[in-house]
Amino acid sequence: MGGLRIAVLKETAAGETRVAATPETVKKFIGLGASFAVEQGAGLAASISDADYSAAGADVLPAGEAVKGADIVLGVQAPDVAALSGAKPGAWVAAIFDPFREKERVEAYAKAGFEALAMEFMPRITRAQSMDVLSSQSNLAGYKAVLAAADQYGRAFPMMMTAAGTISAAKAFIMGVGVAGLQAIATAKRLGAQVSATDVRSATREQIQSLGAKPIFVESVAGIEGEGAGGYATEMSEEYQKAQAELVSSHIAKQDIVITTALIPGRPAPRLISDAQIATMKPGSVIFDLAVAQGGNVEGSVADQVVEKYGVFIMGYSNTPAHLAADASALFSRNHFNFLSAFWDKEAGTVTLDEEIGDAVRLTKGGEVVNERLKA
Ligand code: NAI
Repeated sequence: MGGLRIAVLKETAAGETRVAATPETVKKFIGLGASFAVEQGAGLAASISDADYSAAGADVLPAGEAVKGADIVLGVQAPDVAALSGAKPGAWVAAIFDPFREKERVEAYAKAGFEALAMEFMPRITRAQSMDVLSSQSNLAGYKAVLAAADQYGRAFPMMMTAAGTISAAKAFIMGVGVAGLQAIATAKRLGAQVSATDVRSATREQIQSLGAKPIFVESVAGIEGEGAGGYATEMSEEYQKAQAELVSSHIAKQDIVITTALIPGRPAPRLISDAQIATMKPGSVIFDLAVAQGGNVEGSVADQVVEKYGVFIMGYSNTPAHLAADASALFSRNHFNFLSAFWDKEAGTVTLDEEIGDAVRLTKGGEVVNERLKA
């Protein structure tokens, strides 16, 4: 068998600026014996020209041509099945599939005989950390959320002592301390804010402290001890939610900047801030809802808009990593490379996933939907 053929198409989702391979990863895949096709213009929104891909050894081809004969298609967001016509029968497509919401697309992949590999289903195990697109993209999103909030905020973050008098430091509160939240804490600290943070997982308390921020935790009702199932949060009891709401109410009124990042896999985002709580905040405060595309942590947040309520600005992007297209693409592409290269047999020119990772990410195979999480 000759080398595998890998194709990267131009992303088609509205507002998507990222691309699933960079000249760096193209070179690395070619080093493994693969050949590489990139659709014309695929990298433009991420500041990568067609010439850069050509120089890295890719064939840059018009739409419809790039996918021809592909064994593997790499995407950021999964392409529609129609865009895959001409790929090899049974070809693999590795991308974000959003399978709980995009059931029809998953069915269509099964019907067409493609093997859909959902990168967001990567298991949270140490050896898969470098393959995890949720982490790589959340980290950048946490950073960008703070910058966007800082930009919207009509005051400065750091304390400044000037000849005209002193400006006090902004108070920033980060709700949800996963990958995005940790980066949000670090970024707000770097900008000079006084930072506090909360989460339902008690393991995050030390992480918050180690970044020099103040932990704010519900003490009366038990949260989730340790890292929970695979490091993820679950839905909390009513009692916990009530205690959390009270705690947040008293804290939030004193904050200038609030960044919310709370997500529960396969569920709508938990509601963390109500309209009544927003009403207690100071005019000019900014809330950035990183979960806005998953239903929102904040009442009244609207994707890609700045909503003003009681003088408070509520904002959030539908696709935050897309606002850092070049870095987000670089990390996403490395996730793809780290994933496939870990299972690559250079001699045979084949890739064979192992059970632990393969079964976790594979949605469809042999005409069927095969993923346990989708069958449940
Ligand atoms: P996530 O994006 O699913 O959620 C963000 C944060 O929101 C989490 O910390 C979660 O506990 C929190 N949250 C959920 N409901 C909440 C509520 N009602 N109130 C306050 N906070 C709430 O989580 P993410 O960022 O994907 O990471 C979760 C954990 O997984 C982390 O401990 C991380 O270190 C770990 N992880 C491990 C990886 C690996 O070993 N390969 C890769 C990525 C993350």
